[in-house]
Amino acid sequence: MLILGIESSCDETGVALYDSTRGLIAQALHSQIDMHVAYGGVVPELASRDHIQRVLPLTRAVLKQASLTLNDVDGIACTVGPGLAGALLVGTACAHAMAFALNKPIIPVHHLAGHLLSPLLSANPPTFPFVALLVSGGHTQLMRVDGVGQYQLLGETLDDAAGEAFDKTAKVLGLNYPGGPAVSALAQRGVAERFVFGRPMLHSPDLDFSFSGLKTAVLTQAKKLGAIAPLTEQDRADIAHAFVDAAVDVLGKKSYKALQQQGLKRLVVAGGVGANLQLRARLDAMAHKHGFKVFYPELDLCTDNGAMIALAGCLMAQQNPSLLDARRDGFTVRPRWPLHELSGAV
Ligand code: KG4
Ligand code: ZN
Repeated sequence: MLILGIESSCDETGVALYDSTRGLIAQALHSQIDMHVAYGGVVPELASRDHIQRVLPLTRAVLKQASLTLNDVDGIACTVGPGLAGALLVGTACAHAMAFALNKPIIPVHHLAGHLLSPLLSANPPTFPFVALLVSGGHTQLMRVDGVGQYQLLGETLDDAAGEAFDKTAKVLGLNYPGGPAVSALAQRGVAERFVFGRPMLHSPDLDFSFSGLKTAVLTQAKKLGAIAPLTEQDRADIAHAFVDAAVDVLGKKSYKALQQQGLKRLVVAGGVGANLQLRARLDAMAHKHGFKVFYPELDLCTDNGAMIALAGCLMAQQNPSLLDARRDGFTVRPRWPLHELSGAV
């Protein structure tokens, strides 16, 4: 079964072809980071307009890479939520237009389902069930995953997402959007424990998170130092180090708590913050110490991409072949769409 996947929920246009027997056979991605950097964050209207220009050329590019045509495709999977409404509409509208013209089925995919299934594309994929730590720009959640479409929410952030905290910390420290990779790199030059920030909700009995206090701790520390003298490069690096240390500590310990609670030994880490090297190092050390296994998507598949959507669409259709019989007249997108609502459905 050959599935074309289209992702356009935020600031990346991704298109890919996934085949149930051959695996991922082609993918293409356009990141809008260079366009949004001047504004310090994603401008939704600009994002939508850019997606419009990218979806079809990227689709042509993946078909060319694979020496295939649209007629060879068995279905078109597209991200219908959650994300920016206008951006989602572009990918979804293009997918429906192609599906209608070719009389092919549409498979609507939840963006986060794509993220948490993305480690299945790696050389060493996990088996179900597992606990997934979803850490992106908009979400921070721990899920129990028993299979494709079987997602149980265990805990989530009560305020900012982990990626959002990285991005806000970056702003305070004068780094460009998106802040995650920049804060991570700066933190590596920081001195450990010059500053120590509180670990929000580390000892709460649940599996929830809170990151807004951590962002405030960064701002307070930066203001305190800045009142005496302009921040040096070392000051900024030391603050970044303390921030990353606190964020990674909470994410790691709560993930382990979730594994213990569920009696599972497999942890999947997905979403943009899953690319964070400090988080990976901490989880690997914990896995070694406590005897569990951590699975990551390939580094380039941590952030948004079409491959994870094509994969999710294909797995959904394999599990529920009737999805391929459906022809859809109208369509909608779901900018807000809790992942656990999918359980029981596909
Ligand atoms: O999953 P993603 O590409 O988009 C959403 O679905 O939100 O995640 C983007 C987020 C941004 O907040 C970005 O700063 C963060 O992931 N991020 C990182 C790293 N790479 C991306 N955060 C920490 N360290 C990184 N290396
Ligand atoms: Zn994402």
